[in-house]
Parts: sequence; C-alpha cells; structure tokens
Amino acid sequence: MKHLETQVAIIGAGPSGLLLGQLLARQGISNIILERVTGDYVLGRVRAGILEQGFVDLVREAGVADRMDEEGASHEGFNISIDDRSVRIDLKKLTGGDVVVCYGQTEITKDLMESRAALELVTFYEASDVDLQDVTAASPSVTFVHEGEDYELKCDYIAGCDGFHGISRQTIPEQLRVEHERVYPFGWLGLLSDTPPVSHELIYSKTSRGFALASQRSATRSRYYIQVPLSDQVEDWSDERFWEEFKKRLPKRAAEKLVTGPSIEKSIAPLRSFICEPMQYGKLFLVGDAAHIVPPTGAKGLNLAASDVSTLYKILRRVYLEDDKECITQYSEIALRRVWHGERFSWWMTNMLHNFDDMESLDLKGQTFERFMDSELSYYLASEAGQKVIAEQYVGLPYEDLA
Ligand code: APR
Ligand code: PHB
Repeated sequence: MKHLETQVAIIGAGPSGLLLGQLLARQGISNIILERVTGDYVLGRVRAGILEQGFVDLVREAGVADRMDEEGASHEGFNISIDDRSVRIDLKKLTGGDVVVCYGQTEITKDLMESRAALELVTFYEASDVDLQDVTAASPSVTFVHEGEDYELKCDYIAGCDGFHGISRQTIPEQLRVEHERVYPFGWLGLLSDTPPVSHELIYSKTSRGFALASQRSATRSRYYIQVPLSDQVEDWSDERFWEEFKKRLPKRAAEKLVTGPSIEKSIAPLRSFICEPMQYGKLFLVGDAAHIVPPTGAKGLNLAASDVSTLYKILRRVYLEDDKECITQYSEIALRRVWHGERFSWWMTNMLHNFDDMESLDLKGQTFERFMDSELSYYLASEAGQKVIAEQYVGLPYEDLA
C-alpha cells in the first residue's frame, strides 16, 4: 500500500473537479484528483456549451480563460419559436447588460486539463476501486487502485465531483439523504456537424412534431437536437432522417438556410431532474452532477456545477487562509438554494417547450398538460415582464456569498 497526503482529495476530473482543483492550487491549497477513466475518454463526451457570466468569471479567476476569451462567442439573445412565430429574448436589454458565452464544455475541460498538467498538479487517471473512508472523522482518506498498486490518500476534505454515476453520493447514509427525481418521458437526439450554424443565435423551437434546438460550437460547427421517444435508438436515426425531421421542426425562415452535412457525433440522452439533499456529509462535499442533474433545456448543467465550485472554493479559502473551520457547515444550504432555482427553471423550460401530447404527465392527460403549457409559454412571451423572467434566469441568478 502506498501512502499519499493532500489537503483536498477530489474525486472526478470532469469540469467540476478540474475547475475546483485549479482554483485551489492557485491559492496554495494542495489537491489530488482521482479519475476513473482516461483523460481522452473524458474529452470524448459531447456536452453543452452555454456559459453564464458567473462561470466565465470563475474560469478567469482560475487563470485558464485565454482560449475561452478568444474563441468563445458572446450571445446577447436567443430565440424561442412556437411553430412559425419567433420571439427573440434580448438577454442584454432585458437584464440590463448581461449575456452568455458560447464555448463548448469539452473545450473548457481541455483547457483545464492542459493547465493542470503544465502546473504539474497530481491527477490519477484510470484510478479504480475508489472508496471514501472516515468522512466524518478528523482525517478522512480515500483508497484506490492505480496500475495494480493499492493507495491510501489522507486528506482534510473530500470533494465528490464524480458525476451522477459516481460513488461519493452513496457515502451519505441513506437515512440522511433525500433524493428528488423526475424522469421525463422523452429524450434528446443530438447531432454535431461541421456545418455553419443555421442561425447566429440559438433557436429553441416548439412544434406539434416535438421540440428542436439549434445550437452551435463555432461559426463552422453546429450542434442540433430533436426530442425523440425514449424507445428510439440512435441506430434508428440515419443522418438523412435526422436532417429531414430537424428541418421540419425549425421555423420556416431558418429551415430555408439549413446547411446539412455528415454527423461527427450523434447520441440520445434521457432527460432527468435530480437533486440530492444534503450536499454535504462530514468532510465530504458533493459538487456538480454528483448532487444534481437538470434536463438540458435551460443550459444549466455546467453552470450549476460552477456555482457549487464557487461556493466550495470560498469555503475552503476561508478554512485555509483565515483558519475558520466552522464555515464548512454553510455549503449545502448555499449551494442548494441556487441549485433549486436552476432546477425549477430547467423543469419549467422543459415543460413549456416539449410536446407532451401522447403522454401522461403528473395527474393530467398529456393533451391537457400540453394546453396549459402552451398557454403559459405564450403568456410569458407576450410581455416584457414575462421575457425578463426568462432572460434573468437564462443568464444565471447571482452567486450567494458566505455568511
Ligand atoms: N471514481 C473516480 N472518478 C469517477 C468515479 C469514481 N468512482 N465515478 C465517476 N467518475 C468521474 C467520471 O468519469 C467523470 O469524468 O467523475 C467525472 C464526473 O464528471 P461529469 O459527469 O462531467 O460531472 P461534473 O464535473 O460535475 O460536470 C458537470 O457535466 O455532466 C455534465 O451536464 C453536466 O455540464 C454539466 C457538467
Ligand atoms: C448545446 O449547445 O449543446 C446546448 C445549448 C443550449 C442548451 C442545451 C444544449 O439549452
């Protein structure tokens, strides 16, 4: 058994773990990351790419913003269309100056990985059998296996940044954990292609055929999605079939401009709302997808992970730089307040924009639910006050300070 020591053990090298590690290292707080798969595997996952200002600021504070600032595109608005009627949500005007930045999560992850390697910060990729020990004791530890060798990593705190399927959440005893969940009766089929985006701003499109989203990664790379039944397999969808269906779900003016091409990636993701309470147990803090999942409709997944990172970063800075160990009890409450807002917004956008016609939803018939949501969406879009409610949540609610 090999013995290691660090101040903060971080489980998972997704965006949450990498960003936290980078921020802590810059404050002189030591950390080691344990990741189950290879770095290339992590980078192979295609995820969303709309960043709130709070996230952008945090990446700048972490000192890894050069490429994001150069290549990321500032988006001052986005469109919601219902059949052929399009309404532009003017983020900048409605929020008094806030915008979002379009820059892929994969790129952020890559920038963080490169910076971590350049700073020679320790990461164990392909770490197996990761297990958290004594998380309520004065000095917890993490055991794992790497290249056939057993390790014990002693630490002061553990950041569980290991995503929805990770092991950290399970360390909180079942009787202390409340899990809230809603699984939606459809999925998103996503296609990535090297074609110019159909519109320079995102289009969220509600139609009787189902929802579609036109997003992008750059001026030459598009990311498009359509709502599909959960029973569909990605093999059911040739590129041709995807393009044909996607085009039918775009407002006419956009559809006319659609450029199609071969897919680089195509996958189906189920939609889920999930929150675990509390997000802390002893010296363990859950961060990002390990504690909560949102359906992608509000582009909040990565952004909620970032606000957790920000809160934990503030806490650990106070612990190590101001010697205040009491403040750690604030984490769960502060993080969860913002998480619930983001969860509610994502749930609301999902309900309003998808087609529920054939589905039983809550205690309502699909068609009845659908009519309520149609009415809700047109009500909000019809007034500046309604659009403002959408805009200020889309750009992201403010981060809360510690008490
Ligand atoms: N041991 C070590 N690492 C693990 C383990 C484990 N037992 N289980 C999972 N991991 C790793 C995964 O391989 C993954 O690389 O933890 C990482 C978690 O990363 P993400 O799932 O990307 O979660 P997070 O960093 O919180 O990022 C949140 O990613 O999933 C999207 O929508 C989400 O955009 C949001 C963002
Ligand atoms: C994406 O670009 O992948 C994306 C953008 C906005 C969303 C969801 C996904 O709401």
